[in-house]
Amino acid sequence: MKRMVSGIKPTGQLHLGSYLGALKHFVEYQNEYDMYIFVANLHCITVYQKPEELKKNLIDCIALYIACGLDPKRTTIFLQSDVKEHAQLGWIMNCNTYLGELNRMTQFKDKQAKGEQGLTGGIYTYPSLMSADILLYDADYVPVGDDQKQHVELCRDVAMRFNNRYGDTFIVPEPLIAKVGARIMSLNDPTKKMSKSDNNDKGCIYLLDDLKKVRKKIMSAKTDDVAKVQYDPINQPGIANLMQIASAFTNESFDELTAKFDGKGYGDFKKYVADIVCAELEVIQSRYHDIVDSGMINTILENGAIKATAIAKAKLDEVQRKIGIEVK
Ligand code: TYM
Repeated sequence: MKRMVSGIKPTGQLHLGSYLGALKHFVEYQNEYDMYIFVANLHCITVYQKPEELKKNLIDCIALYIACGLDPKRTTIFLQSDVKEHAQLGWIMNCNTYLGELNRMTQFKDKQAKGEQGLTGGIYTYPSLMSADILLYDADYVPVGDDQKQHVELCRDVAMRFNNRYGDTFIVPEPLIAKVGARIMSLNDPTKKMSKSDNNDKGCIYLLDDLKKVRKKIMSAKTDDVAKVQYDPINQPGIANLMQIASAFTNESFDELTAKFDGKGYGDFKKYVADIVCAELEVIQSRYHDIVDSGMINTILENGAIKATAIAKAKLDEVQRKIGIEVK
């Protein structure tokens, strides 16, 4: 069975972008692949997090993984920091990644270009830790949204270089990016990615948002004055984004959606999208509350850490022997 690994940063609450770009696919793939899905808590401290908020977000993230359909019997679910090998291989990967490569990462470049203050060393070297997250597990595929593709490609480059230098050690993984939903945009500025760091709450739908609020956000999503539901991301980015959302939920093609809303207004289309999103979120939210109340999260994390550590430890041992830092 081929293996997959992926993770989500629990910086703030999970939103519709992380759900449609990543989590929904993890759930679909878990029947066909050996899945390792973690909460990337070491990644989220690259930016200061209030400790109490972070802890709540970690618990919510795990509860949402399960509420969205990840099954701990089929998928190994764990906290990144529980498997100490991530940080150690992360350092080794850092020593095998060139400054020029890190300088080319668009996420870091964007932050620098915006003149963001207080950028940490962690933000800069985070792609090396991400390489370690993937390579530790000999993953064949890494299901991610479009914005993480560059990091997985860097991971491939680093893995190939390492294999050439030290002999075959790592499987060179492939990013797996869905055709629809891989880049969900902000509802109130559809030229920007939907993101938890968006300062404007109106643009982002959180999985745990009150459903009335969700409906309101969708109904007030920015559109255009073309007045036709059709897929034209350049001239109608708001409608294109809502079509992406609808299609990711229902599997309807863009042509089918266009035909369905032929001669109808944007209000009707938005109501349709709001109905679909709210119906799915209602189920997720009700399961989420049951999971938090059940107290099952600690057991899931303990079991996940044991299973993930066994694989990660063997890989780290192999790497350390090959690079010559061990005496035995
Ligand atoms: P993160 O936490 O920013 O996002 C988690 C996953 O959700 C996808 N995503 C989106 N997809 C579509 N539209 C959006 N608006 C949107 N926003 C987020 C992301 O592409 C991602 O797949 N570095 C990673 C976490 C990570 C990781 C890894 C992933 C750490 N180590 C190893 C895979 C393998 C991150 O910050 O994702």
